[in-house]
Amino acid sequence: MIGTGYVGLVSGVCFADIGNQVICVDKDKNKIDKLNSGISPIYEPGLYELIKKNFTAKRLSFTSNIDRAINTSDIIFICVGTPTKKGSINVDLSFVYKCTKEILKYSKRKKIIVTKSTVPVGTGDEIEKILKKKKKLFTVISNPEFLREGEAIRDFRYPDRIVVGSNEKKPLNIMRKLYAPITNKGSKFFTTSRRGAELIKYASNAFLATKITFINELANLCERSGVNVEDISLGMGSDSRIGGRFLRAGPAYGGSCFPKDTKGLVSVAEKYKINLSVVKSVIKSNQERVNLLTKRVHKILGSNLKNKKISFLGVTFKPNTDDMRDSTSLKMIPYLCKKGAVVNYYDPSGHKKEFKKIKNCFFKRDIKSNCLKADLIILLTEWDEFKSLNFRSITKNKKVKVYDLRNLYNNDEMKKDNLEYYSIGRS
Ligand code: UDX
Repeated sequence: MIGTGYVGLVSGVCFADIGNQVICVDKDKNKIDKLNSGISPIYEPGLYELIKKNFTAKRLSFTSNIDRAINTSDIIFICVGTPTKKGSINVDLSFVYKCTKEILKYSKRKKIIVTKSTVPVGTGDEIEKILKKKKKLFTVISNPEFLREGEAIRDFRYPDRIVVGSNEKKPLNIMRKLYAPITNKGSKFFTTSRRGAELIKYASNAFLATKITFINELANLCERSGVNVEDISLGMGSDSRIGGRFLRAGPAYGGSCFPKDTKGLVSVAEKYKINLSVVKSVIKSNQERVNLLTKRVHKILGSNLKNKKISFLGVTFKPNTDDMRDSTSLKMIPYLCKKGAVVNYYDPSGHKKEFKKIKNCFFKRDIKSNCLKADLIILLTEWDEFKSLNFRSITKNKKVKVYDLRNLYNNDEMKKDNLEYYSIGRS
């Protein structure tokens, strides 16, 4: 596995756990040293235990020596990052091509090269071109990964489907065998062309992002028309053609994939002179959502935020991860601080370097000290420990207001407690 980010590390550890001999490679020596001393560089429930188990059983090793790793392996997974290029919507494939060149340099015998990183349609063809000097040694296939942060191990073990794209038959059989312990439990093994697999990954992420954006916009309509958005999600989602998942209204979607992959898909389509207008408007609507929700703070607290005490519960883009990428908090907190508010935040995954330099922004170690005397509590991330709170007792402020961006509480309960409560997509 080349690259020990979410995809590479989780997949590598899980492949080892189903009996394979796995080497995880990363050029970041610091990360490798951490892994070799049993420390997981990422926050993912259950991962540390699996690393320890498979490392001790000698099925899993970590190295920055790419030469040895490449030579020892039969199957090489490319799991490096494919970020958005700075100042554009294009995908930066430089890490993918760099490690392809290393594979070319060090390979002495036949190998299957698998792209697990999310790559634009046609990237496999480009990889093949780079490898053409030793063409006979390589088969390049695509096997995108669909795991979610915070649920990554479960998603790897029990995926709805495994997608493998290849222009040749033989590597498909090898991959089928590799995944047999998972498909034997019922997951579908779906095969297609290499380009097909590459595009399936972008299409899936863009569609899920569209579903979320759709329900978020409907939530705005629900608020004005006195309807409960959860009823809409349930009523719509019960139609099996639509499906109920990813219809939870909330803040703008964030994370390492949806924002990046929606843009990536639009940029690839543009190269083929195709206008993906739906995905384009999803990107725009999601960006506007952050502003819309931030403006609502003024509606709750008034135009003057000077010295207002605002406490955030959760700042990560979703629970069970320490990942801050494209979290709504990254825009909300700096804005509120700039307007003079004093912002406290507590997140179970710890303090965040992103807010270190912001005046008036303070990390608190627990829920109580975070919310004490708050004028407004903003519930941004649905961590389990935020699901049964008594807001009055944690703030000791009778006039505390609550802005629940994840609809963890319901209007009636809050009314009973005489709390001024705001949520998403409810009247
Ligand atoms: C996503 C895809 O689900 C996964 O298949 C892919 O491999 C990587 O990208 P991830 O980003 O880890 O996974 O998290 P996910 O649970 O999909 O949530 C993404 C964002 O959508 C979060 O901001 C989350 O809060 C938001 N979301 C999700 C909603 O707002 N409503 C929903 O109903 C579901």
